[in-house]
Amino acid sequence: MGLVRKFFNQTRKPEGFLGRLMLSGMSFGHASVADWAMSLLNIPEPLEIVELGCGNGRDAGELLKKYPGSKVTAVDYSPLSVERTKRTNKKMLEAGRIKVLDDDVSNLKLEHEKFDLATAFETIYFWPGLERCFENVKKILKPGGRFMVVMESNGQDKIIQWFKKRIDGMNTYSEEEIEKALRAAGFSKIEANHKKSIGATWLMLLAEK
Ligand SMILES: C[S@@+](CC[C@H](N)C(=O)[O-])C[C@H]1O[C@@H](n2cnc3c(N)ncnc32)[C@H](O)[C@@H]1O
Repeated sequence: MGLVRKFFNQTRKPEGFLGRLMLSGMSFGHASVADWAMSLLNIPEPLEIVELGCGNGRDAGELLKKYPGSKVTAVDYSPLSVERTKRTNKKMLEAGRIKVLDDDVSNLKLEHEKFDLATAFETIYFWPGLERCFENVKKILKPGGRFMVVMESNGQDKIIQWFKKRIDGMNTYSEEEIEKALRAAGFSKIEANHKKSIGATWLMLLAEK
């Protein structure tokens, strides 16, 4: 596998030296889409938030700033992402506002009906079996809890197809496919937001349990 391909494959599960580099670059790549999506979140302050596929932990920290009364459980199946998220949020970790766990969305060990809000920024491309993973998210949400899915592409943009060709095991989804999987997993009141960006359309879906 060539170096470029090896590097981009680190988005799926960051590991080793290239994984560290990728985690450092993720904030640069994803911050604007994540901030746009969070600015649209107009819900009562969620007391318990779970941030799924937390990567370098930047978005977990932003959620803690947006909701000063909340606690975040950040989850990733990459031990490197777990370590980096702890480092990014060192003060919040010491203050007891964040927990960071090594866990897999396809087999979550988290307590059921605990969370008011679940977030997934730029990660569902790698979840094995969207509907089954969404069902797992539903289990850990309280009744009426929300699930926010954020992607910097609507699944059809050329840029996402470019990444898909270079990242093993990556899936791309249209808005309709995500909505269908959310409904099949038992979510309702699905709200979709879009923003045109350079060469792509950003997507934020908010669903209710
Ligand atoms: C492209 S990165 C995005 C990270 C971060 N959310 C962001 O927007 O910058 C995808 C992250 O999801 C994690 N991930 C992928 N599949 C996962 C799964 N099944 N369970 C938990 N984490 C997963 C990866 O390890 C990686 O850290």
